Amino acid sequence: MADLEGMELSPHVAAGLPGWPETLAHLTAPGRRHAVDVLRTAEACGRPFVQPRCGVGGHRAMLRLLGGLEAAGPGMLSVTIDAHTRLKKFTTAESLLRANPADLNGYPLVAHGWQRGRELAEAVSVPLEVRHGSPDARDLFAVAVASGITSFEGGGIGYNLPYSKDVPLARSLQDWQQVDALCGRLAESGVVVDRELFGTLTAVLVPPSIGLAVIVLEACAAVREGVKCLSLAYPQGGEVHQDIAALRAVRTLAARYLPPDVEVFPVLHEFMGAFPRTPDFANALILLGGLVARLGGATKVINKTVQEAFGLPDSAANASGIRTARLGASGILDFVRVDEDRVAEEQYWIEREVAEIVEPVLGSGDLLTGIEAAFRRGRLDIPFSASIHAHSRIMPRRDGSGAIRYADSAALPFSGATSAFHSERLRDVHGTPDRTLLETATADIHYFLSQEDALLPHDTNRERDGS
Ligand code: 5AD
Repeated sequence: MADLEGMELSPHVAAGLPGWPETLAHLTAPGRRHAVDVLRTAEACGRPFVQPRCGVGGHRAMLRLLGGLEAAGPGMLSVTIDAHTRLKKFTTAESLLRANPADLNGYPLVAHGWQRGRELAEAVSVPLEVRHGSPDARDLFAVAVASGITSFEGGGIGYNLPYSKDVPLARSLQDWQQVDALCGRLAESGVVVDRELFGTLTAVLVPPSIGLAVIVLEACAAVREGVKCLSLAYPQGGEVHQDIAALRAVRTLAARYLPPDVEVFPVLHEFMGAFPRTPDFANALILLGGLVARLGGATKVINKTVQEAFGLPDSAANASGIRTARLGASGILDFVRVDEDRVAEEQYWIEREVAEIVEPVLGSGDLLTGIEAAFRRGRLDIPFSASIHAHSRIMPRRDGSGAIRYADSAALPFSGATSAFHSERLRDVHGTPDRTLLETATADIHYFLSQEDALLPHDTNRERDGS
């Protein structure tokens, strides 16, 4: 195995990389703007910026896409990676790239190589982030760093359990440990890498305290390796008070569990579940995401598009999504106030639940072994996981307000008070006898689709219209 400052890499990937001194010289060149700089600026001005997901196979097409989206005013842009590269099938990605780049569902950065990566980074005035979904991202991270890209999403839990059927947690945690250790090494050399953690998980009715517990544990693991900048992402669940509370809890949890010299930036992923199909309702939800991000004190918000219900967005739809989310986070909605008592109550319970979940793991000796053991015993769990390494026995349910509660917290180590809170909140929605568990879960998952039907009953414009 070859090695880039301590990271084990595939030999053919390592062979193509520039040397460490050259990489460092590139990363520290005067005037280079890194992701952390943009995050700090947004944090100082108190208003979130917007970032799209975006990635197409061909290099020229990717350059065009980034240029087109830049005009919509994002604070950062993404290089969303294709599925083959995510699974380290670099040669498959390369063959498809040669045959028909449009067959790739993202940009195959490893196949294109770091020189082209640098071209992408230098083609736009905002920093890039690599977004993917790989349980083992070491090769991809090495190419990203060589490309001058210093924002990188993923972690050993959040990029394993939702995506892979049978990658042992010990494996993914150790592979991500190497990524984080390289970030530590870079930080010592004056290059701060923004590591974003994917609290969105399966994106299906994830109770806030589950997503936050996972990113707190991943953050602790990253910090141990020397990571100094963390973007901690939470997915919009749909109930405004709960969403604002969860975003605010990111900061209090970071203050409680992470050292003070680590910079933390809360991130909102606009609604990741079944998305409304009408452009009107989709746009309203995209606008709402921007507003919730601002009210929750997020530093950035990842936008959705009106084509979400139909597949990957084209450039025009994505640009429009960026603009709409920016409007939601803008001053035109600064008059909006929410019931702060409700937010505070939600935040109290979220923080308490996260404490009940993570503190036994944090106190259990070696962190990575503790995480693995907790998942094995169901003391940590995520709903609707693709992986055999999570029990997926916890069952979420929306209460009458739309907030996501635990109908069954299975083996999570909750106190009596926490369990009682959830049962109490669900009392009204329990006891609809003619609905099966599957039917209620489906209704909860289709939360915004039912609202769309109720609010826009005469709108037949439900097909992809490309607007
Ligand atoms: N370009 C834009 N969006 C993408 N997504 C996944 N791949 C891409 C891509 N290449 C988005 C999906 C969905 C989320 C999971 O990521 O459209 O919103």
